[in-house]
Amino acid sequence: MGCAFVPAAVPARGRHGLTARQTPTVRPRQAWAGGQPLAAPAHGGRLQATCREAAVMVATADEAAAAPQAVAAAAARLAVPPASKDLDWATLGFQFRPTNCYVRHTYRDGAWSTKPELVAEPYIKLHIGATALHYGASCFEGLKAFRTADGRVSLFRPDENAKRMASSAARLLIPEVPADLFLSACKAAVRENVEFVPPYGTGGSLYVRPLLFGSGPKIGLSPADEFTFLVLVTPVGDYYAGGPAPVTAIVTTDYDRAAPRGVGHVKCAGNYAADLLPNTLAKRAGYPINLYVDAADQRSVEEFGTSNFVGLIGNTYVTPDSPSVLPSVTNKTLATLAEDAGMVVERRTVDIGEVGEFEEVAACGTAVVITAVTRVVYKGDVITVGAGRGSDPEVVGPRFSELYKQVRGIQYGEIADPHGWCFDVYDE
Ligand SMILES: Cc1ncc(COP(=O)(O)O)c(C=O)c1O
Repeated sequence: MGCAFVPAAVPARGRHGLTARQTPTVRPRQAWAGGQPLAAPAHGGRLQATCREAAVMVATADEAAAAPQAVAAAAARLAVPPASKDLDWATLGFQFRPTNCYVRHTYRDGAWSTKPELVAEPYIKLHIGATALHYGASCFEGLKAFRTADGRVSLFRPDENAKRMASSAARLLIPEVPADLFLSACKAAVRENVEFVPPYGTGGSLYVRPLLFGSGPKIGLSPADEFTFLVLVTPVGDYYAGGPAPVTAIVTTDYDRAAPRGVGHVKCAGNYAADLLPNTLAKRAGYPINLYVDAADQRSVEEFGTSNFVGLIGNTYVTPDSPSVLPSVTNKTLATLAEDAGMVVERRTVDIGEVGEFEEVAACGTAVVITAVTRVVYKGDVITVGAGRGSDPEVVGPRFSELYKQVRGIQYGEIADPHGWCFDVYDE
């Protein structure tokens, strides 16, 4: 088993981890939050070259001949800079923490800028007439990057977020961000902040927040002429560090989240402004999450404030089919895994009276994957999920526990990813 020299298949990366084609503009050229100059990050080209050489050296002649891509992949893994030693990963929680920079593209004169700007300061200079400020012309996405068991850093299903942002943009008359631009901006944002991706084993991740809004001025109601697309990132901790605990949800009956032909199915900023009051009232009353029902009939289950509703009964995975529910990437993921396990997936109307019939109910979304909901308060009555079916409201049910483990296992590279959901941020 001798070592062989193999021409490196990994594209040479610039000092920002980008190929020459994508060399970014950095504004302003000043210190990062971490105290290191943005123009000369700690993970410079030499480290990458050294790692590539090391990977080449560990490959045997046979391996190298048989699988040059494997050598390239090994090289890329070895080149991934480690997590910062300055953060206490165990106590991260879910809050904004400063990082090195965000990535920005601007739409002017009918086209998106192709060169990513890396902006170190966490501010934007915005025109006072920007349509985002006056008319809520703004939408966003939320996804996560993970450090995997074998040392990669990967984004989970960013292609789905790109599609959803395109659909939000279309509804708000904002120019679509092409999927390849969306993906390259997300990857660049993670790479440029890679030391903020929590170490494997801590249960944390780097939360990635793409944001798209009208930045040009209009005083009359009309679409702007200039738009901004940016991707910011912030490290977040393991939501279930203290162990998974089921919650009680309250049905919001004094306010509606969305109307059938409104904007509930897209991720526009205004939906969340409208949810702030009911969400806060629910929390003040002691309920960590609130559940919305159909605006007209006040009975058909829609979704939780920031997550989809899923119920399991027998061999069936049930989720509401409504034009005003946001199509959740997590829900789509869980439904596929449920189908893989032989379950039947039903998208249909779910009456609030049916909630107690399910054996398990969960709220699902990127932030926590799954929150088991074992009690739902509706107009003063407490509905216990699985009452009469042997479910224990004090524990997370076995099938959602299993689905949760599977999603996390795929995200952290611990189990196979047969559907190709994980995107390595160092793959071009
Ligand atoms: C209203 C709403 N529903 C559902 C979800 C869950 O979607 P995802 O699984 O894509 O995070 C979110 C979170 O983005 C949300 O804000």
